[in-house]
Amino acid sequence: MKALHRIPVAAGAGRYEVVVGPGVWDALPAIIAQSCPAHRYAVITDSGVAPTYAARLVHALRAAAQQAEVFAFPAGEAFKTREQWASVTDAMLLAGHGRDTAVVVVGGGVPGDLGGFVAATYMRGLPWVQVPTTLLAMLDASVGGKTAVDTASGKNLVGVFHPPRAVIADPETLRTLPREHLRAGLAEAVKHGAMADGEHFAWIGRFADRLLSADAETMTKLVARSVEIKAEVVSRDEREAGPRKALNFGHTIGHAVEAASGFRLLHGEAVAIGMVAEARLGERLGVSAPGTAERLRGLLASLELPTSLPPEITPAEVIGWTRTDKKSREGRAEYVLLARIGIVDAAGGRWGHAVPDALVHQVLAG
Ligand SMILES: NC(=O)c1ccc[n+]([C@@H]2O[C@H](COP(=O)([O-])OP(=O)(O)OC[C@H]3O[C@@H](n4cnc5c(N)ncnc54)[C@H](O)[C@@H]3O)[C@@H](O)[C@H]2O)c1
Ligand SMILES: [Zn+2]
Repeated sequence: MKALHRIPVAAGAGRYEVVVGPGVWDALPAIIAQSCPAHRYAVITDSGVAPTYAARLVHALRAAAQQAEVFAFPAGEAFKTREQWASVTDAMLLAGHGRDTAVVVVGGGVPGDLGGFVAATYMRGLPWVQVPTTLLAMLDASVGGKTAVDTASGKNLVGVFHPPRAVIADPETLRTLPREHLRAGLAEAVKHGAMADGEHFAWIGRFADRLLSADAETMTKLVARSVEIKAEVVSRDEREAGPRKALNFGHTIGHAVEAASGFRLLHGEAVAIGMVAEARLGERLGVSAPGTAERLRGLLASLELPTSLPPEITPAEVIGWTRTDKKSREGRAEYVLLARIGIVDAAGGRWGHAVPDALVHQVLAG
């Protein structure tokens, strides 16, 4: 096995490690047994990876003399619901899982959020391990301990903080990930660079081709650095009172664009559009250094991500959606603005700026 990266993440009173490296898959049974010992393992996954990675994991656990069985629900955000939470929970109850079971979640951010929520609530909480297989889940969803399901009123509205005992990411699994999901994950890595590390941002640009071809060594470096950045921010502010808000860069407009597209755009694609627009806002307000938006646009375009609104979505629709933002204050959307690439403007400790709708309209209209 090639060199592994082990990144510590502070979580409540404790901490856990994100272990990243090509081939780390072979060490899964050993890492799981060590970080999360249990009598039995409930492997929660979605239908997209149940026959491949989840089956492989169960096989490996059984070969290591562990009891393990799969609980799969249908793939896709549309199934990150209380109904699927109930059906996975009921199936585990029927199978007789008790407090001596641990959960292992295999798959992207959807099984991560739903499986983590099952673990958090099953018999008042089981320990769990996350084995992310999408880029988004590796470098974003696996850090911070958030679990949730969606409701008709919006995404992630019911959930709890329940950090895993360990996260184990093998970038070799990204070779089978559809390219649009790869790109969507890259958008979040660009965000990490833009808000906290100008070097990481520039490095992504130099290695864009290798990243787009899911080269495992390059992906390992990308994931490790992104996880470090997110872990650093989250460790300082686990409950999102202050600096963690910087992670919301590109997301006020991003979430609104995602909703306005009827969720046809992937989250990462919408965030790419949002980052460019919010960088333009920053420049217009004199908060962001001139050229910030153009650097973002150039890098995102080289990663084959969209950088402006598709013609079927109007700026007015997007502004309408920003008003429903969960992170708004007193009904007004807040925008995280960059000082320049690599540094967020702290806005005097508020971390967010209120921006006139007319200006948002201007930057979205291009
Ligand atoms: N908890 C957090 O902090 C956090 C952070 C960011 C995002 N999220 C959540 O993550 C979710 C999005 O996650 P996602 O983008 O990973 O989506 P996803 O989990 O739906 O995965 C996308 C698709 O790829 C398939 N897939 C997964 N791994 C694969 C592989 N290696 N090869 C081939 N196919 C594979 C899946 O079956 C699915 O069809 C959202 O619900 C979002 O709210 C949570
Ligand atoms: Zn995001």
